[in-house]
Amino acid sequence: MQLQYKKVLVFGATSGIGWSLTAKFVETGTSVIAIGRRKERLDDFAEQYGKNGDATVDTAVFDVTDLKAIPEFARHMFDKHPDIDCVFLNSGLQRAINWAEPEKVDLETVDMEVLTNYTAYMHLTKAFLPYLQKQTPKETSMIYTTSGLALIPLISVSNYCATKAALHHTILAMREQLREANSNVKIIELFPPAVQTELHDFEHGEKGKSIGMPLNEFTEEAFEGLCKKGTENEQVPVQAVKTFMGFNGWEQERQKTMMKMIEQMKQQGR
Ligand SMILES: NC(=O)c1ccc[n+]([C@@H]2O[C@H](COP(=O)([O-])OP(=O)(O)OC[C@H]3O[C@@H](n4cnc5c(N)ncnc54)[C@H](OP(=O)(O)O)[C@@H]3O)[C@@H](O)[C@H]2O)c1
Repeated sequence: MQLQYKKVLVFGATSGIGWSLTAKFVETGTSVIAIGRRKERLDDFAEQYGKNGDATVDTAVFDVTDLKAIPEFARHMFDKHPDIDCVFLNSGLQRAINWAEPEKVDLETVDMEVLTNYTAYMHLTKAFLPYLQKQTPKETSMIYTTSGLALIPLISVSNYCATKAALHHTILAMREQLREANSNVKIIELFPPAVQTELHDFEHGEKGKSIGMPLNEFTEEAFEGLCKKGTENEQVPVQAVKTFMGFNGWEQERQKTMMKMIEQMKQQGR
């Protein structure tokens, strides 16, 4: 099994889901550029996976919240690697919030979560999409990591859920706009359930790493989903997201209603 893309640029590759999937890409022959803020992690990644057959590994330190620097970073990446055919936006953070104690709600934390998980994704999409569109007719893609919590809010991390739900809505709309434009860029959404990574460390310390499914099991299922062809890999729900969190059930109804609304708007000439 292999991704259909030859070179993937991965944001959030220094730990957890990003590290593990990026390693899987390299091991299965896809070249990568791993991005994150922690240089020592990127150096470790290059050290461990840099000599893996034909696939190449490059790394770059970048903070996605540095919005003004994003266009120049995208230009630099494509100057250096004009053959990037997939951009994987996976960086993210999660913080707790309790509206029963509004005096303790830290609005800077709220803003940082929205900036990292949503606003930065919009800026990255605007900067990177044109480089993929220019490669038409070659098929390229953008992959976005949202979450099962884009579908069902978990009350302790409601702002996090809201950022993922916002991203999910944008992705649904963006995918149809690009489809209508016969675009060569496929929009892929990966929906992890809870997975054992560092995401939960901030709130739970070392215990955080035991929340959710084992990372290696997640990686195998997610990778298999990403490797599917045609429309089958546009949405990749993993494990509990499929059933318990509603992807195979009411989420399908919601998406059908969205398609009906698109048809209605077309009939009205809008
Ligand atoms: N683990 C779960 O239970 C779970 C469930 C559903 C969805 N997800 C999503 O999966 C994605 C990966 O999370 P994870 O679970 O693998 O957590 P993680 O181990 O904490 O990884 C988060 C990654 O995001 C990067 N990142 C965070 N802020 C960044 C910034 N400002 N600029 C650049 N990179 C930044 C981190 O790199 P640096 O710190 O080196 O910058 C790290 O590589 C996230 O979008 C998360 O919301 C996770």
